[in-house]
Amino acid sequence: MLDEIEALRRQALAQIAAVDQLQALEELRVRHLGRRSRLRELMAQLGALPADQRPAAGSAAGGAQKALQEALDQRKTALQEAAEAGATPDLTLPGHRPLSGRLHPLHSLAEELSSIFQRLGFTVVDGPEIEDEYHNFDALNTPADHPARDLHATFYLEGGGLLRTQTSTVQIRVMETTPPPVRIVAPGRCYRRDAVDATHHFAFHQIEGLCVDRQVSLADLKGTLVAMGRQVLDPQTRVRFRPHFFPFTEPSVEYDFSCSLCRGEDRGCRVCKGTGWIEIGGAGMVHPAVFTSVGYDPEQYTGFAFGIGIERIAMIRHGIDDIRLFLDSDLRFTRQF
Ligand code: DAH
Repeated sequence: MLDEIEALRRQALAQIAAVDQLQALEELRVRHLGRRSRLRELMAQLGALPADQRPAAGSAAGGAQKALQEALDQRKTALQEAAEAGATPDLTLPGHRPLSGRLHPLHSLAEELSSIFQRLGFTVVDGPEIEDEYHNFDALNTPADHPARDLHATFYLEGGGLLRTQTSTVQIRVMETTPPPVRIVAPGRCYRRDAVDATHHFAFHQIEGLCVDRQVSLADLKGTLVAMGRQVLDPQTRVRFRPHFFPFTEPSVEYDFSCSLCRGEDRGCRVCKGTGWIEIGGAGMVHPAVFTSVGYDPEQYTGFAFGIGIERIAMIRHGIDDIRLFLDSDLRFTRQF
């Protein structure tokens, strides 16, 4: 029995020294010192030994039990200390750079433009991207046979509805629920079935503006656009109106800003192509038919409305020559802002 006890002791001590997990150490304790361990079995048999062998076997068994218990305790303390050391941060290591989010350049520009209009007394409102034909077309005096309703320009949704092709929808939604006077801007995303190239995208962004009151004039429109241009692009911005057609305004214009890059002085300017002017959007005086469709009295109220291409301004400002970059999944572009 002495030999077996000695063998057990050595084997168990070797296993305890080799273990490096607290869980495995606990399993060793159960295996070697637990109630059903071989050592306990041998101790239970001590009484059956001849009397002259009993003391030696008894002290060997007791010694083995004590040695194993000590080894287990020591190993446990060592493993716990190692685990704690691992959990304490090593302040000398280089840190992990935190991933900080930031606003998309179109988003921050929309916010900047919105706050310019807020200072001019406009309220910022929102409208749905999924629209119906009534708000996208009919109420905007765009009859069913108008080319803008052509399938090629509009994404129609299965089961009815469409993706708005312009933020002008929000003019209608606001006037439907608010009596005049109103002064709102509505930034947001629009969609058109356009072939994608460097200056066209199927998803793009506009800010819609609408001001309705008694005696609002085209001069108020121009003053508002000048104030916007001077704050967002160039303090010397001038605004030019070119006659145009929109179903929901009369008269209608396209408006240009004087070139903020060359101020009309560079025949080879890549932003204005040497013309001195850059096209920004469409605008006009709200058509009486639009007022009638929302229940405003066109005899009492007049209003101006405008649309701004947000990409357009961002491209001018940052010298970006390809609109596709804004929605590209390659983040190297957006990370520059
Ligand atoms: N909705 C027009 C477009 O997407 C832009 C526009 C023109 C908006 C005239 C207006 C406006 O509010 O009065 O081309």
